[in-house]
Amino acid sequence: MIAKTEEDFNGLKEIGKIVASVRDELVQRTIPGITTKELDDLAGELLDKSGAVSAPKGEYDFPGYTCISLNREVAHGIPSHRVIQAGDLVNIDVSASKNGYFADTGISFVVGEGEEVLSKICDVAKKAFDEGLKKAKPGSKKNRIGKAVYETARQNGFTVIKNLTGHGVGRRIHEAPDHICNYYDRWDNEILKEGMVIAFEPFISTFEEEVFQKNDGWTYATEKSYVAQLEHTIILTKNGPIIVTL
Ligand code: CO
Ligand code: CO
Repeated sequence: MIAKTEEDFNGLKEIGKIVASVRDELVQRTIPGITTKELDDLAGELLDKSGAVSAPKGEYDFPGYTCISLNREVAHGIPSHRVIQAGDLVNIDVSASKNGYFADTGISFVVGEGEEVLSKICDVAKKAFDEGLKKAKPGSKKNRIGKAVYETARQNGFTVIKNLTGHGVGRRIHEAPDHICNYYDRWDNEILKEGMVIAFEPFISTFEEEVFQKNDGWTYATEKSYVAQLEHTIILTKNGPIIVTL
């Protein structure tokens, strides 16, 4: 969407704050021994208390309030009775709506001490996010965001997932612009607009560049790579981006 009115900005900030607090609470509660379903049930309660509705459940009939992906799973992992272990790479992605406004946020992190490469890809996802954010300006070409993400990945010895992208958000969970790529697409001539609301989510990978969908019909995974994501909902303005999900 294009945020124009005070009501738009306030509505986006309100739902942004809600999904960010649910995300942070779930990250805090992710300790060895807990199941992804237990975390998701907590998210359901917290969203309910805030008067928000889970976007994956409400919009797509996803079997969970949030997406929780473990290790070689990258996105849209289904909360289940699997038990989280020390050293796991976990991604928690929370998206929801309130009063007709949607926000989307996600983070990858390591439970306790894990393989060194895991914390490294999480750090590079943050770096790629910061570099891409510098290019997220009204009047700039959208493809410069992906260029910054890709270059940051390569400079750090990693690559990106090419078939998962960021997207427009705001009035729906996925809306125009449909794709904010993690690489430089020279054919993408779209110009970013004042007030444009995007979910920017770089996916940094150890070496594979595509995910496949598992037989459950939801989960995206790699064969052998590890992938880290960081996602925030952002309003682009001439005075700089407003991150509503900090
Ligand atoms: Co998300
Ligand atoms: Co998203």
